[in-house]
Amino acid sequence: MQDFSFYNPTRIEFGAGKIASLNQLVPTDARVLVLFGGESARRTGTLDEVTAALGDREVQLFGGIEPNPSFETLMEAVALVRSNDIDFLLAVGGGSVIDGTKFVAAAALFDGDAWEILKQGGQNIERALPFGTVLTLPATGSEMNKGSVITRKALQAKLPFMSEQVYPLFSVLDPVKTYTLPTRQVANGVVDAFVHVMEQYLTYPAQAPVQDRFAEGLLQTLIEIGPKALAEPEDYQTRASLMWTATLALNGLIGAGVPQDWASHMLGHELTALHNLDHAQTLAVVLPEMLRQRKATKLGKLVQYAERVWDIREGSDDDKAEAAIERTREFFESVGVKTRLGDYGLGAEHIDGIIDSLKNHGMVALGEHGDVTPEHCRQILLASL
Ligand code: NZQ
Ligand code: ZN
Repeated sequence: MQDFSFYNPTRIEFGAGKIASLNQLVPTDARVLVLFGGESARRTGTLDEVTAALGDREVQLFGGIEPNPSFETLMEAVALVRSNDIDFLLAVGGGSVIDGTKFVAAAALFDGDAWEILKQGGQNIERALPFGTVLTLPATGSEMNKGSVITRKALQAKLPFMSEQVYPLFSVLDPVKTYTLPTRQVANGVVDAFVHVMEQYLTYPAQAPVQDRFAEGLLQTLIEIGPKALAEPEDYQTRASLMWTATLALNGLIGAGVPQDWASHMLGHELTALHNLDHAQTLAVVLPEMLRQRKATKLGKLVQYAERVWDIREGSDDDKAEAAIERTREFFESVGVKTRLGDYGLGAEHIDGIIDSLKNHGMVALGEHGDVTPEHCRQILLASL
């Protein structure tokens, strides 16, 4: 096991009706800005529930944070925070609204050009406004982690940042709030959470048996409940399991003490920035070929994954690895997320542009060994056509 420092200060309030607990969670004298996305929070009644729970507090609203939240929109929220002396933020939505709120929290107290936060991956964040979240879409784990991904539309750049200053103070997870999700978003959530586990598990053996078993348990849970979450949207227990599994997939626990990959995510971000695929769609396209092209260095873990997660016992190590990669692809397809670039209208002619973007963003030495180059990514994309 590798050395590590593990810190996670986010309180989780989990269960039906938990939005009412905002009254205890948000300071009574706070000047609150509630941030949300398009229309879903209002349409589903969640926004009303939130404002009711906040009672007499001074509350303002900021809507319009788009999927793959943009720097441009978020800077409008920063201006509002500054001009109204807002001192507490509350995100109501999915990963995009939460990521956007993390950026607003840091940018509002940042001296200078806030894009520098993204350029330096968050290392220059010294403080941030306190904030909480009400999660409406299980997928990203943003509700209990220190990461965020922001898009600057004008530059077609989608970049991550991380800082311990942007852990949410608390997150309210009410599985009932997920009942209104469109099928596509539920499927996206299953795939995103699955790939989060894979990025931290499918590297090389690191003598971390408990991290491995946690990861395998999360993967098996997603395989088991994913289809059910789609087929029975109002099955509370299934939605509860999906919600907590997605949070645990990326709250730091399974990644402590083990090598991590994240190459699929970094390549996927370029696909979203340039061609507007949903985040999970990019992962469903990239991950299978990412694993296949790097089979030699990942073989030990691929065989373990094949045997323990998919119960593949027959054949050589290579046979097992191949079969597990195919099962992974089939799983993504089975929940309705397509796994080929062509499924999203992209062809060989788009690959040069994606590779150029990777280079422009300095994504030239990816993966757990730092040996995944733009040329490898080109081969991966060609194989994903
Ligand atoms: O905008 P509204 O109208 O609210 O609709 C949203 C949005 O269109 C809708 N939605 C959310 N909750 C709903 C609902 N519709 C009906 N009922 C509900 N209860 O769902 C759509 C997608 O929302 P979004 O927040 O974009 O999805 P997701 O949670 O998948 O977040 C994706 C973003 O998170 C980033 C991705 O890159 C992407 O930008 N990620 C953040 C991570 C992190 N912070 O750790 C890690 C991930 O790898 C990921 O990169
Ligand atoms: Zn992701």
